[in-house]
Amino acid sequence: EWKMEDVLEEQIKYVKSLVGPDDHVICGLSGGVDSTVAAMLVHKAIGDRLHCLFIDNGLLRFKERERVMACFKNDLHLPVTCTDASEQFLKKLKGVKDPERKRKIIGEEFIRVFEDFAPKVESKVGKRPAFLLQGTLYPDVIESCPPPGSGRTHSHTIKSHHNVGGLPHRMNLKLIEPLKLLFKDEVRRLGKILNVSESFLKRHPFPGPGLAVRVLGDVTEGNALNILREVDEIFIQAIKDAGLYDIIWQAFAVFLPVRSVGVQGDQRTHANAVVLRAITSEDGMTADWYYFDHKFLVDVVSKICNQVRGVNRVCQDITSKPPATVEWE
Ligand code: XMP
Repeated sequence: EWKMEDVLEEQIKYVKSLVGPDDHVICGLSGGVDSTVAAMLVHKAIGDRLHCLFIDNGLLRFKERERVMACFKNDLHLPVTCTDASEQFLKKLKGVKDPERKRKIIGEEFIRVFEDFAPKVESKVGKRPAFLLQGTLYPDVIESCPPPGSGRTHSHTIKSHHNVGGLPHRMNLKLIEPLKLLFKDEVRRLGKILNVSESFLKRHPFPGPGLAVRVLGDVTEGNALNILREVDEIFIQAIKDAGLYDIIWQAFAVFLPVRSVGVQGDQRTHANAVVLRAITSEDGMTADWYYFDHKFLVDVVSKICNQVRGVNRVCQDITSKPPATVEWE
């Protein structure tokens, strides 16, 4: 087993040897553990010659942008620019229902927003950034480039997770991937010695295409995204309050483009249905649905129906992976 202090020292040396004394590095932060730990490491090595970008693609969770930006600034002291590109993303997603097309469009839009970032950095520092930092982990390496003889080829891809794969080549940037040999638990340990808080390091995984794969069908339809954000927030908060967040691997809500009849007060309603999904897992490759106790479910469903306009029915997904996948799209 590797000592993370040694890995840190080694990687800092490596980054310093790779990036010249007046070279600049750009990096996209998702708000997740991997990109954040990678950025903390490189920031320690080269300071403010690292330039991070956080993109609001309009598909983030409730108050996610405000929360992670506050964390970058106040807790982690990382130099991060935030850009609100939500209109641009949502315009492109209008009318799109196919999950893989959604992923493709979002990946392309990310690249576009990122391509605008490099010249901005250049005009600020007087030199074009030469490097791109990515928080790629060892399992990502295996997945995108399966070892020979493993029998895995691209045609087996169930969902295309590699959202910005074409970026370094298109922008003529050299890649820095300091976490490339690490597993997730090692990245968490590395994050800990880089002073990233425990609560940040324990955040559940969140897919690159964000809520786009959790609003089934057209994400721009009606108020779906906002309804989903509110439901998701109530569910996650309830899980935290019950002390269950750390034992659940991932939990979230899904918005169904389906209306059913309900009765609220004395009123007949014809409103949307949402799904709650919580799983335990080691690595996301297989997963078991999580068994909540009765009272937890009663309370959370009543909160959702009382507080979120537009929802009159709450279902729970009790399918494991396989046969289902974690996400619904
Ligand atoms: P599935 O749905 O494939 O999810 O069982 C396994 C894990 O991967 C996440 N996921 C994604 N992550 N881009 C990502 O970065 C994607 O397109 C994507 N699709 C699924 C999912 O949240 C789960 O943790």
